[in-house]
Amino acid sequence: MLNKDVVLKALGGVKYPGFEKDIVTFGFVKSVEVSENNVYVEVDIVSSSKEVGDELKANIEKEIDALGAARVDVVVKQPKPPVEKSNSQSGKNMAPHIKNFVMVSSGKGGVGKTTTTVNLAIAMASQGKKVGLLDADIYGPNVPRMMGAVDQHPEIVGQKVKPIVAYGVEMMSMGSLMESGQSLIWRGAMIMKAIEQLLRDILWSDLDVLFIDMPPGTGDAQLTLAQSVPVTAGICVTTPQQVALDDTERSLDMFQKLHIPIAGIMENMSGFICPETHKEYDIFGKGTTKPLAEKFETIVIGEIPIEPAVREGGDAGKPVTFFHPESETAKRYQASARKLWECIEKVNEEGGASNEAIQPTMGINGSPSACSQH
Ligand SMILES: Nc1ncnc2c1ncn2[C@@H]1O[C@H](COP(=O)(O)OP(=O)(O)O)[C@@H](O)[C@H]1O
Ligand SMILES: [Mg+2]
Repeated sequence: MLNKDVVLKALGGVKYPGFEKDIVTFGFVKSVEVSENNVYVEVDIVSSSKEVGDELKANIEKEIDALGAARVDVVVKQPKPPVEKSNSQSGKNMAPHIKNFVMVSSGKGGVGKTTTTVNLAIAMASQGKKVGLLDADIYGPNVPRMMGAVDQHPEIVGQKVKPIVAYGVEMMSMGSLMESGQSLIWRGAMIMKAIEQLLRDILWSDLDVLFIDMPPGTGDAQLTLAQSVPVTAGICVTTPQQVALDDTERSLDMFQKLHIPIAGIMENMSGFICPETHKEYDIFGKGTTKPLAEKFETIVIGEIPIEPAVREGGDAGKPVTFFHPESETAKRYQASARKLWECIEKVNEEGGASNEAIQPTMGINGSPSACSQH
């Protein structure tokens, strides 16, 4: 007949993975129960590694099986693994006072990334959050125009630069730091420097969210940004055509590889609302984004129709969300901003404050992105 002492003695033969000492000596065995020939063992270990937990469980089961137990139940209690963040590997944090960073990406140019970023930033600011907008599209900085700030030059304070404020949003762009119309032809290394400086040497306030308008694609700028700050959430902007969606998939894949929780996809130019009849027409197709979102276990955060007022607002520096808050489009940006904030809160709940001291973690088996799970 099995009894507790026999089981404990057997457990004394189970080494803690990677160590010479056994789990009883370590004090990891919390409970042993034996009734008839059924054995229940509970151990509590400090490692969060799944491999360690699995190995230990198998070894305990083997040892107790050998005693001739009819049934063996082993519970290995472990702490939750630390959430891998985009900057975990580098350990850098260029703007530790900013609470959250939202990276807005797209596979292609011209799909409405800047338009989306500007309107989401304004919407979120109108919802009472402290919001900033960093134009990381170093080659094609369009944020100043869309924010109605092409002619504004930032104030220099010592070695630092004050952000420009427009429509309740703090903003900075390479476009505001150079003569208008000048084009930039830089090498990758300089792009990296520029992005780091835009994070570190701009006097951003203690923002709730800094939106970052990325250049299209998946290149140096994306990698630099991900490694410079803990990116709380990534948004992908796409139009509904298949060619755009193919590139969007690459962007979503990049978010996963960079350990950026995916907040969702913004489907832009998804149908046309006739200004006279208010009827909605599909032009590039509609609803094609949803299956892609499902594939990445994320959501379509919003569907923004093609609307002349959106383009006019962009060109004139009068964003539709600020100037036509009653319009259907502005309402959709507002709803999207709320969904985005929910995602940010969820990421913070699951991983602690997103921008707290970063502890570099070992291994690359990052836990799944917080918002990519619904
Ligand atoms: N929903 C929309 N309806 C009408 N025009 C739009 C819409 N979204 C973007 N645009 C226009 O399309 C052009 C490209 O948008 P932009 O935001 O600059 O794209 P990206 O940043 O991806 O290159 C701009 O002229 C913009 O005003
Ligand atoms: Mg742009």
